Amino acid sequence: MSALPQEVHNRRTFAIIAHPDAGKTTLTEKLLLFGGAIQMAGAVKARGEQRRARSDWMKVERERGISVTASVMNFDYADRTFNLVDTPGHEDFSEDTYRTLTAVDSAVMVIDAAKGIEAQTRKLFEVCRLRNVPIITFVNKMDREARDPFDLMDEVERDLQLEVTPGSWPIGSGPDFRGCYDLIRDRLVLLDRRQGDIASEGIQCDGLDDPKLDELLPADQVAKLREDVAMVRELCPPFDLETYREGHQTPVFFGSAINNFGVRELLLGLAAYAPSPRPQQADSRTVQPEEPKVTGFVFKVQANMDPNHRDRIAFFRLCSGHFRRGVKLKHMRSGKLLAVNNAVLFLARDRELAEDAYPGDIIGIPNHGTLRIGDTLTEGEDLRYTGVPSFAPELLQRVKLDDPMKMKHLRKALEHFAEEGASQVFKPLIGADWVVGVVGPLQFEVLAARIDAEYDIKAKFESCGYDSARWIECDDPVVLKSFLDSNRSALAEDHDGALVFLARNGWQLNRAQEDYPKIRFQKTREQN
Ligand code: G4P
Repeated sequence: MSALPQEVHNRRTFAIIAHPDAGKTTLTEKLLLFGGAIQMAGAVKARGEQRRARSDWMKVERERGISVTASVMNFDYADRTFNLVDTPGHEDFSEDTYRTLTAVDSAVMVIDAAKGIEAQTRKLFEVCRLRNVPIITFVNKMDREARDPFDLMDEVERDLQLEVTPGSWPIGSGPDFRGCYDLIRDRLVLLDRRQGDIASEGIQCDGLDDPKLDELLPADQVAKLREDVAMVRELCPPFDLETYREGHQTPVFFGSAINNFGVRELLLGLAAYAPSPRPQQADSRTVQPEEPKVTGFVFKVQANMDPNHRDRIAFFRLCSGHFRRGVKLKHMRSGKLLAVNNAVLFLARDRELAEDAYPGDIIGIPNHGTLRIGDTLTEGEDLRYTGVPSFAPELLQRVKLDDPMKMKHLRKALEHFAEEGASQVFKPLIGADWVVGVVGPLQFEVLAARIDAEYDIKAKFESCGYDSARWIECDDPVVLKSFLDSNRSALAEDHDGALVFLARNGWQLNRAQEDYPKIRFQKTREQN
């Protein structure tokens, strides 16, 4: 019998969403530790700066101390194969994050126990909601002074309009943090501050009235735990698998990633409840993951991972079928066949040639620019996955060169970055200055640094007088022509040749929209 249905059943492909500093990096490391994907010594104990230096690719990231490129980590735990897709936490890279979230089936939302829901948590959550991505919440840093757990749960419920139900309940916080009571498996898990890397399995209890609790915990904490749990059970709905999977309920786990506490419960929660790869919507039909033929889409392209080779890795999310090395896949945008011999699986810090891969897995396909974000590959069938968008950039600037002789090289670099999704490039129909668009200002800095490091070109970004960009669509060719004729100086093409209207201010954009009601000024564009 084919292994495919079982492999699909065992896959958990997820991302961690968090406001910067909530503990995403630390939690990622601890998850990998449980999965045996990294050794405990060194990797876990390294201080923040070293840790970041190791996991990040780019110099700019090291300088800034933030993680800006998404990567993928594959590991096994509790008879499941997990694919953890890392997302950049910084808000300037939200477009990349958005696309990454199109490639996962569920998410873990990390919240700092002292701060609760923060700006970036809310934004990322909204993206998950758009796609009904189910969320497990991890309240981190319980070993520090924390807000009241009822308060935190209430905030999640009110702020995110999401039903909450605790999967575990904390006993104390800050220096008095003792551990958690696992409400799902009726088990007491105590924090052993000396133990370091791996938390204990927990002590099996016969419910909350078990006298073992009185032996192990101070009387006031046991009393409070019993009282809290009684109240929780009265106030919160019980965990409901279906409501969670529909994205309407979130189980909440409390822990302390740095102490490796609560991580096992979180992983077991993912193993037990998070959805396996879901059916995916293509333009012509819904594709079931158990279908034997390979289909999938590219959600990210990373160029120049090795500065000595101008190669790129396309991150390909498998949606159906059993991928075998050497399989020939049809590239839907060009119609050409591609023999995929050298794809890689991302095993935590290593990469390994992908011999086999299953739905939910993410493989890296090296290429020289053939594969772009949003591309569909199939084992022959004509279908396209939709829903991997480009967003209208919020900041537009012109590039200024120190050495004008390098203009041709610069343009090539800008096109590469646009194909990679790191920025967008617009070529005005009139005039020679290309306009670069990004979502957050930090992206300009990263771009300038990459143009220097990867192409040896010194460039600066400066104001270009444009304030917004909109893709133009119109079903009436006569109206379109009239618009194009009278707005030529405000029009440009993106790197795919799609028409874009560049407005100098909100007034000009409004005016154009009022004058041409038949034209759609789009803030997003489906890739390809
Ligand atoms: P991020 O990726 O979400 O930005 O967060 P990251 O894991 O880098 O954690 C941010 C800071 O919070 C780090 O401190 C980290 O050590 C700390 N931290 C993470 N989890 C916990 C926890 O459970 N308890 C406590 N008390 N702290 C936690 P840092 O000072 O920036 O780095 P470091 O030098 O301490 O490593």
